[in-house]
Amino acid sequence: MALAFIVPGLDEAVSEKAIAILQNRLSQEQEAALVLKHAHWNVTGPNFIAVHEMLDPQVEVVLAQADETAERIATLGGTPDGRADAITRNRTWKAFDVEGRAGTEEYLKALIEYYDAFIADDRKAIAELDDLDVISSNIIQDHVQELEKFQWFMRSHLA
Ligand SMILES: [Fe+2]
Repeated sequence: MALAFIVPGLDEAVSEKAIAILQNRLSQEQEAALVLKHAHWNVTGPNFIAVHEMLDPQVEVVLAQADETAERIATLGGTPDGRADAITRNRTWKAFDVEGRAGTEEYLKALIEYYDAFIADDRKAIAELDDLDVISSNIIQDHVQELEKFQWFMRSHLA
């Protein structure tokens, strides 16, 4: 789709490459909110309330990240795709596969593994965006900092 606008100092090809990277991050940020809510609803067993209540602030943060990423895409002249179909179409990472009620340890281990890919993919996006658009890179740098902190929270329950 043709860009609505090209920001001063960027050209169309560079903008399109940056937008494609940001769209992939947007889809994972949106999916992460769904995965975290799924865990919030289904986690059970020891430390239930601690884990249940730890997850909601993470949902709020990843949704705010998705909003920021989507608005960066629009700022660059692109069209963010926030539909559910776009999440599955853009998924380049392993899907979260814990189903139904399961213990805190099982959910935390699965979430830590999910965050491993989320963080690594954000860091890969940062490296690529550094050569394209440092403003977009800076946005994802802020996001990954929050994800790394949340992964530390989760690891700390298992120590
Ligand atoms: Fe809730």
